[in-house]
Amino acid sequence: MLSFKTVFSFAALLPFAHLVAAQSAVWGQCGGIGWTGATTCVSGSTCIKQNDYYSQCQPGAASPPVTTVTPTLPPSSPTTTTSTGSAPSGLSTIPASQLFKISNFGPNPNNVAVYVYKPARVQSKPPLIVASHFCTGTAQAYFSGSKFAQLAETYGYLVLFPSSPHSGTCWDVSSDATLTHDGGSDSLGIASAARYAIANWGVDPARVFAVGTSSGAMMTNVLAGAYPDVFKGGVVDSGVPFGCFALPGQAQDSWNSQCAQGQLVLTGAQWAQRVLNAYPGYTGARPKMQVWHGTAGSWWGIYSDTTLYPQNFFETVKQWTTVFGYPSTPLSNVSESYLPRGYSNATYGPNFQAILAQGVGHTVPLYEQQYLQFLGIA
Ligand SMILES: *[C@@H]1O[C@H](CO)[C@@H](O)[C@H](O)[C@H]1NC(C)=O
Ligand SMILES: *[C@@H]1O[C@H](CO)[C@@H](O)[C@H](O)[C@H]1NC(C)=O
Repeated sequence: MLSFKTVFSFAALLPFAHLVAAQSAVWGQCGGIGWTGATTCVSGSTCIKQNDYYSQCQPGAASPPVTTVTPTLPPSSPTTTTSTGSAPSGLSTIPASQLFKISNFGPNPNNVAVYVYKPARVQSKPPLIVASHFCTGTAQAYFSGSKFAQLAETYGYLVLFPSSPHSGTCWDVSSDATLTHDGGSDSLGIASAARYAIANWGVDPARVFAVGTSSGAMMTNVLAGAYPDVFKGGVVDSGVPFGCFALPGQAQDSWNSQCAQGQLVLTGAQWAQRVLNAYPGYTGARPKMQVWHGTAGSWWGIYSDTTLYPQNFFETVKQWTTVFGYPSTPLSNVSESYLPRGYSNATYGPNFQAILAQGVGHTVPLYEQQYLQFLGIA
């Protein structure tokens, strides 16, 4: 079997990889956020949207795309209450079992909207999970499209659902500000809400976690990298390494195609340095991390997540294993009976696991119960 490295060096050599022409060739890219090349296809092929970031010329007339796109969410209007202007000063002032918008919770330069979900019964010194949505998503969409709130009713933890302030609702994971501890932007707003919850709602500071999908997965790596003092664990579903989207000097929330397409290949030491640079002088523990990524989507018979190429999985593995000082090869890499065929669970040490899902596109379905187990909540 070809290794991913081989496959991707091959992919990089494909003539259409950087094609900017009047019309894109069959299997070439023909659209997507950040795409500046041709948006029409040569005759005999049709431009098919795979996801917001990638449309592809496929042979023949329009047919259904191969990859799944951003998670499909049930149309629903969850109960949402808006606070009266100040953040709840104590747990008891948060209405239970509904999405409740909080404000004035500390430094929040981008005015990230943040909602809290408090279950009917809360553990004493409850854990806190920050759950970050994908591009085009919202706090409400991730709330209703995931089981994080539902499982809070079982396990008695609190959830914060932030909502991106940017058009297209991706998170800023590219600016210096967001990639720097207390540097500003989206990550500071989210960290402020978590700090507020610790200071005012009796949250256990040892059990504050981040989870997220796609852009929210990137944000999860950002929070884990830049705020290791706040976040003690993270679960990353289909994202990129910390700092992979970095585009210093460009507008916040910029799309980094080089990273997305898996072409930013660094050494573990280089990736780890990006994490260390985010918070110079920090010597405390690093959050435990669990990373999930899919490989599916047919692109010239090359299998990949075509929004955030699977090379990003291997780059993220290099990053966190180096941060933890773990060996670069897993201690074990096994299939799990509760997971579908094709999933492999590579364990590198107590604080890092990487699950690759063969045949699964962007994004890997959520396994919330499993995340809770990894985070020590379930
Ligand atoms: C784990 O093993 C599978 C094959 O069984 C492989 O595809 C995958 O790349 C391995 N995971 C890691 C992180 O090396
Ligand atoms: C991966 O394997 C480790 C070691 O057996 C196990 O503790 C962990 O729960 C597994 N992770 C997943 C996501 O199944």
